[in-house]
Amino acid sequence: MATTPAVPNRQRQVEEELVRAVLASFQDTPDPRLKELMQTLVRHLHAFIREARPTEAEWQHAIDFLTAAGHITTDRRQEFVLLSDVLGASMQTINVNQGADASATEATVVGPFFVEGSPEIPIGGDMAAGAPGQPCWVEGTVTDTDGNPVPGARLEVWEADEDGLYDVQYDNDHLAGRAHLFTDDQGDYAFWGLTPTPYPIPHDGPVGALLEATGRSPMRASHLHFMAAAPGLRTLVTHIFVEGDDLLTSDAVFGVRESLVNRFERHPVGTPAPDGRDLSGRSWSSVRFDIVLSPQPR
Ligand code: BEZ
Ligand code: FE
Repeated sequence: MATTPAVPNRQRQVEEELVRAVLASFQDTPDPRLKELMQTLVRHLHAFIREARPTEAEWQHAIDFLTAAGHITTDRRQEFVLLSDVLGASMQTINVNQGADASATEATVVGPFFVEGSPEIPIGGDMAAGAPGQPCWVEGTVTDTDGNPVPGARLEVWEADEDGLYDVQYDNDHLAGRAHLFTDDQGDYAFWGLTPTPYPIPHDGPVGALLEATGRSPMRASHLHFMAAAPGLRTLVTHIFVEGDDLLTSDAVFGVRESLVNRFERHPVGTPAPDGRDLSGRSWSSVRFDIVLSPQPR
């Protein structure tokens, strides 16, 4: 644990007095939770400043960084989510909220590319919708933590194409590589997607500059996003990762969990597809991902 650098007594008193004054300014916050959040934030923010002792120029640089993050953010580009992700803050928020319920499927970051309004596909449908990449048959069963199948669970799935881009990163309104579907009476689902490939998080903005300046890679391990929701059960946001992917240990947003790494079977050209789909001479892959949803927290 780092300690506050030695500062002269008088100086320390001035610094501590300011922390007390700022804490006191939130003392009458009517909402007790907001009060707790703000006072905890103030304590830690001041501890950071008092330990790291940024120069005024450095502090201005930090303000400029946040200003640039605001300027580049649009309804299609969320730089603050990226910042939270690369600092591990998104994963830590998931950790503190979801505990380690060993019987349920683990959660991971939502990332900036989920958008409302995905098309519905039937079971066995194709969520790729023309996005380039190797076809991948994805199937599984959704159950609760008692092992009961969950019929009618809504699954949102989204992923990047083989060029490492999500549909919303193209300059058109075409939706591809995203869809939603519902589990059948047995809790089963299946769809065609794309074999996930690695790609960098958007790194042409301030967060990319931060990664560059700190010698960090923007690459994410290959993954396919899922959001699973059903009445009475906790909504799960997660991904599946690809066994053997070199990036599993260095994911830019700390999103990999061992339990989410899955074996993708590779099928050479000419292997018949499970649903008889004509793959026109293409190789394909398949993966099984069973999802266990925990009860809704009280
Ligand atoms: C993604 O999975 O697409 C993603 C997650 C976090 C930050 C950037 C991208
Ligand atoms: Fe992603």
